[in-house]
Amino acid sequence: MNRDKTSGSSAATYTMGYSEDFQKLLRRRNAETSATHLLPHLKPGMRVLDFGCGPGTISMGLAKAVEPGELHGIDMEESQIEIARGAASAGGHRNAAFQTADVTDLPFEDNSFDVAHCNALLMHVPDTKAVLAEVRRVLKPEGIVSSREMFVDSSFLEPELSGGWDTFSKLITANGGHPQIGKELKREFLEAGFSDISAGVSFEPFVTDEDIEFLHDFIIGWFFAPGTVEAATKYGFATEEQFNDWRALLDQWRETPGALAGFAWGEAIGRK
Ligand SMILES: C[S@@+](CC[C@H](N)C(=O)[O-])C[C@H]1O[C@@H](n2cnc3c(N)ncnc32)[C@H](O)[C@@H]1O
Repeated sequence: MNRDKTSGSSAATYTMGYSEDFQKLLRRRNAETSATHLLPHLKPGMRVLDFGCGPGTISMGLAKAVEPGELHGIDMEESQIEIARGAASAGGHRNAAFQTADVTDLPFEDNSFDVAHCNALLMHVPDTKAVLAEVRRVLKPEGIVSSREMFVDSSFLEPELSGGWDTFSKLITANGGHPQIGKELKREFLEAGFSDISAGVSFEPFVTDEDIEFLHDFIIGWFFAPGTVEAATKYGFATEEQFNDWRALLDQWRETPGALAGFAWGEAIGRK
């Protein structure tokens, strides 16, 4: 729905798009905040794949953790790959390489990675089984698969914007995605043939005044963007009146002294 039609990728519609507002959200992430479950498993010399790496803000920490081993990032969107390459160059991560590719057709040899990780990727790709089969193909025997994905139905704003998260879920589902997959990772990994699964859940908190201000502006910039409103109203997921009500409630939320929010995430690790 927010897909940049000029990017040239043939992949399915990607709900979040590549607007500056969404990039600001991605720039808040790094390996320490978003791959806490994986970092203890990384050792110098490992070869790691970050599939659906986006602008590479998480990839940088993974690259640092495995130096002098290699970090390979792939994403279907060339503009994201260019940003990731720039970040690697600026950060001096000479062991990091990035290329455009689809996660269902990875440009790598069988049995060639020690670790394959993704963050907020499986929730957007229609065929989870095809992705995990492809990841399994490129992992070495005993190699580690790792993912961190949202489950939207436990994410919240306090005070609540009733129905807002449900509309977001429906938009992801309409694009073939999986808004609750964060709590389904353990099952998905088992069904894909991985073993030794460990799984957990966590919240990404928005608590400080700066966080509240950031999230308020992000929601206005992304959820209230004309493309999102048009898609949600076109598919009957929400009315324009609801969007108008949410817009007023969002401003009230920002001014509420006890305002906070949390994005719910599930993390899992398994072995080939
Ligand atoms: C929500 S962003 C997450 C980016 C990064 N992992 C992070 O958490 O900061 C999802 C990314 O997955 C990419 N993506 C979606 N479907 C893909 C596919 N089929 N193949 C490759 N990349 C894909 C999008 O282009 C986007 O950059």
